[in-house]
Amino acid sequence: MMRHLFALCALAAVGALACAAGVSAKPQTIHPGELWPDDRGNHVQAHGGGILKQGKTYYWFGEYRSRDNDPNLRYVGCYSSQDLVHWKFHEPALKLADPENLGERWVLERPKVFYNARTKMYIMYFHLDSGNYSLARVGIATSKKADRDYKYLKSFRPLGQISRDIGQFVDDDGSAYLIFEDRPNGFHIARLSDDYLTVERDVCLIPMHMEGGAVVHYQGLYYAIGSALTGWNPNPNKYATATSLAGPWSEFKDIAPPEANTYGAQSTMMLKVVGPKATTVIFMGDLWKPKTQWDSRYLWMPVEIGDGKLTLPSPHDWTLDVKTGEAEIVSATPPAAPAAPSP
Ligand code: DGJ
Repeated sequence: MMRHLFALCALAAVGALACAAGVSAKPQTIHPGELWPDDRGNHVQAHGGGILKQGKTYYWFGEYRSRDNDPNLRYVGCYSSQDLVHWKFHEPALKLADPENLGERWVLERPKVFYNARTKMYIMYFHLDSGNYSLARVGIATSKKADRDYKYLKSFRPLGQISRDIGQFVDDDGSAYLIFEDRPNGFHIARLSDDYLTVERDVCLIPMHMEGGAVVHYQGLYYAIGSALTGWNPNPNKYATATSLAGPWSEFKDIAPPEANTYGAQSTMMLKVVGPKATTVIFMGDLWKPKTQWDSRYLWMPVEIGDGKLTLPSPHDWTLDVKTGEAEIVSATPPAAPAAPSP
């Protein structure tokens, strides 16, 4: 007993030291739906977010909805990590006062950051809106640093169209796309201009009304996913596939049993982790709590993907090793309830 206790303490001490040094033993465990503490012990505030990888560092940007926020400002949270599990807090990358005279309840949602290798600038896109969501534009802020000093540049309707939820996709060849939801017309996958400061052209307009848009390129196929338009309430998210971003796209199918409503989550990004042993595609979703947004959680799970099929497993603890690319679901499925005795 004492020997076990000693071994456990030794393990915990090694773990704590490794984490303090920013080097974490692998693989690391993700607990979908639980509080996700940053290096200060505070729940990560990066809702509706996206990931940018620079070298070996991952940056997670998203809506920073801390309870202590100044109600007049909107914040974009920024965290960095080497393993996608332990996140170092950075001061919010953007703290913005109402940039377009939109009124008290103005909205900044779903920020995503692209890095433009040609101009060496970081370009942040976000959904900018008035309190009743009638402005429907994208806003842009830029910086020379990944994690700070973003300055608001402008806002516009991409390609002159209404734009609410946005998503980000960077293909394996480095080409960058903004995904945006245009209520009358559908789901746009649009190419950014060379400097990423504007949206140049539609690569595809899928005539589906979907929010939380995300795309991943896996084994020669593109998978597009999105949610239905149900505000903060969950719904069955769906996916379609195509061999080219321009389509044609297959019909949309459920990513999970429809009655599960995506296990309460809404898509925000599909993150591909490529390693020498495996490629893992992570569904990044938000578990929104509209009345206590600072407590909204994250549902990240590795999807089962291939041959045109994509399935989101039910939420369980899982481990990720970013060095090898391997993921493994580790917590057991709760045992099925015993069958009721027949009357
Ligand atoms: C659903 C969107 O996906 C969210 O980003 C947010 O805009 C809510 N609607 C607002 O109701």
